Amino acid sequence: MSKKNDDFFVKKKPWSKVKDELLGCYLKPYVSKILYTRKPLAYVDCFAGKGKFDDGNPGSPLIALDILQQGLASTKLNGNARIGAAFIDLNYATDLQTNLSAYHGIRIVSGAYEDTIENLLISKKGWNVFLYIDPYGIKALDCSKFDAFANGQFNTIELLINMNSFGFIREGCRVMGQQFKIDDDSFFDDLVEYEPTKLDASDKSIEALNQIAGGEYWKSIIEQYISGRIDGYEAEEKFSEQYCSRLSKSYKYVLNMPIRIQQNQHPKYRLIHATNHPAGCVLMADNICNRWELLKDIQSNGQLSLFQEDYNNQIIDASTIRERVIKQFSQFDDWISLTEAEALFYIKYGAICKSGEITKVLKNMEKDNHLEVRRNPCLTEKGKPSTFMTEGHGKTVSIKWVK
Ligand SMILES: C[S@@+](CC[C@H](N)C(=O)[O-])C[C@H]1O[C@@H](n2cnc3c(N)ncnc32)[C@H](O)[C@@H]1O
Repeated sequence: MSKKNDDFFVKKKPWSKVKDELLGCYLKPYVSKILYTRKPLAYVDCFAGKGKFDDGNPGSPLIALDILQQGLASTKLNGNARIGAAFIDLNYATDLQTNLSAYHGIRIVSGAYEDTIENLLISKKGWNVFLYIDPYGIKALDCSKFDAFANGQFNTIELLINMNSFGFIREGCRVMGQQFKIDDDSFFDDLVEYEPTKLDASDKSIEALNQIAGGEYWKSIIEQYISGRIDGYEAEEKFSEQYCSRLSKSYKYVLNMPIRIQQNQHPKYRLIHATNHPAGCVLMADNICNRWELLKDIQSNGQLSLFQEDYNNQIIDASTIRERVIKQFSQFDDWISLTEAEALFYIKYGAICKSGEITKVLKNMEKDNHLEVRRNPCLTEKGKPSTFMTEGHGKTVSIKWVK
């Protein structure tokens, strides 16, 4: 019998709030930007839940629908913008119907994501597609599906995946005949999983994990863990890193954000953002930094921290940022768009700082003649040379390092 995990929706837990914050705050600027491609947007919440928690808090569907509606209302495209929103859930389609009844023109799909998503997207060729993938466990996350979505049929495609990486390591150990143990016994208590059936030590289970991971690389991580060369947390970190690098075979820009509830705590989940569009990557990196700052404020009860830390609790000071910007940007000896260069920086170093901090360093580099910058338009309305350092709204910036 399948377990519905009804408890999940009784009260919205802190990590659900963090996930939704990140989704909502990303969607706002994403929607306003993506509508200007003048292609319609298909937003699909692939594991939508009930729409609303029993304590009255909005779930991901209500959060997204409000933002999509506001995005449509504020666009200046004179009725030419179009959004199609769909919500899939295996167990809660009826709750979704009730809780989302105020919204018209949306689609609610009762069924499993893995059985319904292709059909749902078949009529969306040439659209912009955003998939929010927030399952309880890992079992439905077939990597070959993610590869297939990126094969060029859509104008743009972005995935935001909630990856239960500890769940993967635990199953990996189990199929290799070992038990996964970490020092904190309560760690898994609140990591709910939909399928109570556990994977066993069989070829079929190994194949299932290969499908999820998109390869066999996970086995050597589990072997290292079993032999004691790395601990459970290191195993999770290695797996997440390699999972992102596997995704980057199909998606050029993949960002990984550990979700922690307390500062200095080990992450519970990873939110992974994958896109082929540099602007989406930069937007998400900025969002991660903004969310992280807010979260840090909540965690430290508003006390100011003396040092800037990134989402990985690493201390990042201005000189480290400068050093890394120079290291990365000095490789660009051919013209490249600023946004693409920034996205490549984030892929290399993670979302360690807001894009404004990168451009601050770049402006100094330009002043010192280490960086050539081409701006379009190159003159301001008053006929002065342009100095802007962000793209969009009709402005472009290309850069080239001067040797
Ligand atoms: C973590 S909850 C989603 C929570 C939701 N994102 C929110 O913030 O309100 C996961 C949901 O996936 C549903 N589910 C489980 N297996 C599924 C599958 N194979 N396909 C689609 N939905 C599934 C469950 O019923 C559950 O509502």
